[in-house]
Amino acid sequence: MSVVLLSTVSEVRNRLQQVHAQGASIALVPTMGALHGGHQALIRHAAMENDFVVVSDFVNPTQFGPNEDFARYPRDLQHDQQRAAEAGAHLLFLPSVEEIYPTLSTTFQVDVGRLGTLLCGASRPGHFNGVATVVLKLLEIVQPERVYFGQKDFQQARIIEQMIAAFFLPVQMVVCPTVREVDGLALSSRNRYLNGEERVAATALYRSLLQLQSLLIAGERDPRQLSRHIETFLGEDERLRVEYVALVDPFTLEEVQQITAPFLCAMAVHIGNTRLIDNMLFSPHGEILPPDRFFQGTDLQ
Ligand code: PAJ
Repeated sequence: MSVVLLSTVSEVRNRLQQVHAQGASIALVPTMGALHGGHQALIRHAAMENDFVVVSDFVNPTQFGPNEDFARYPRDLQHDQQRAAEAGAHLLFLPSVEEIYPTLSTTFQVDVGRLGTLLCGASRPGHFNGVATVVLKLLEIVQPERVYFGQKDFQQARIIEQMIAAFFLPVQMVVCPTVREVDGLALSSRNRYLNGEERVAATALYRSLLQLQSLLIAGERDPRQLSRHIETFLGEDERLRVEYVALVDPFTLEEVQQITAPFLCAMAVHIGNTRLIDNMLFSPHGEILPPDRFFQGTDLQ
């Protein structure tokens, strides 16, 4: 199947007006490109539930800090076009920075508040304001029935869910499970930065989450003990630098004081110059839980 490439807001609007007139349901899958199996799972899921799938492919400058990887973030249009088509996308939206941020509007931003200061937000000030701003713009441009996100970026998904609710946006949000390599490493565009040795070390994130599961099954319920165990486990490999490991309430993202309900274990770890994140949802007894029921409140239709 082929996918149509468009780069301006007016072209997308015109095309989607025709799609809408035919009574077709429209889905949006926002991405920053460098498409991999995780993105493709979202696109496939969207294609199953909707008639017409729009994938946005835009490396959003406002979500990168001054010392982050905006300049070297992988960009490969041909690769993305092929991956998007393969997964069942109909339209690939590839706007320029000027198209999304015309000079006069760069001062307008969504402020996500406290949720944007927790977990990854502590080391990436302003990151989630940038994410929410671009997603709001994309939702306004495409006006989809459904929008798809991955559990891999759990905090991002929670923030977008809250933005949708706060602004009464008429869109249903779907959160899909994290897609992993066979050795457990979560697929990520940033995995391309890892050299061979770092790639091997990177499996520690997933292994530490399984370690946490074993501890829960063995009856450990003290969140401080559990996170200390995980940090020690990750610290055993000197190539890894732990930014944070946190056991949090999956709705508020605040740290839990005790484990009596399902919780999220989220982490950010640096390997060389690469920052990787991962997370899993657990029941108090160590069952690994899928993300969908934690985002049920988002169907506003
Ligand atoms: P990006 O990192 O390209 O991710 C796009 C979408 O793919 C996100 O919803 C992300 O959670 C999902 N995703 C990434 N890796 C995944 C994996 N291994 N399994 C399942 N889903 C995965 O997230 C962004 O872009 C940007 O912040 C964006 C929302 C596009 C705004 O700029």
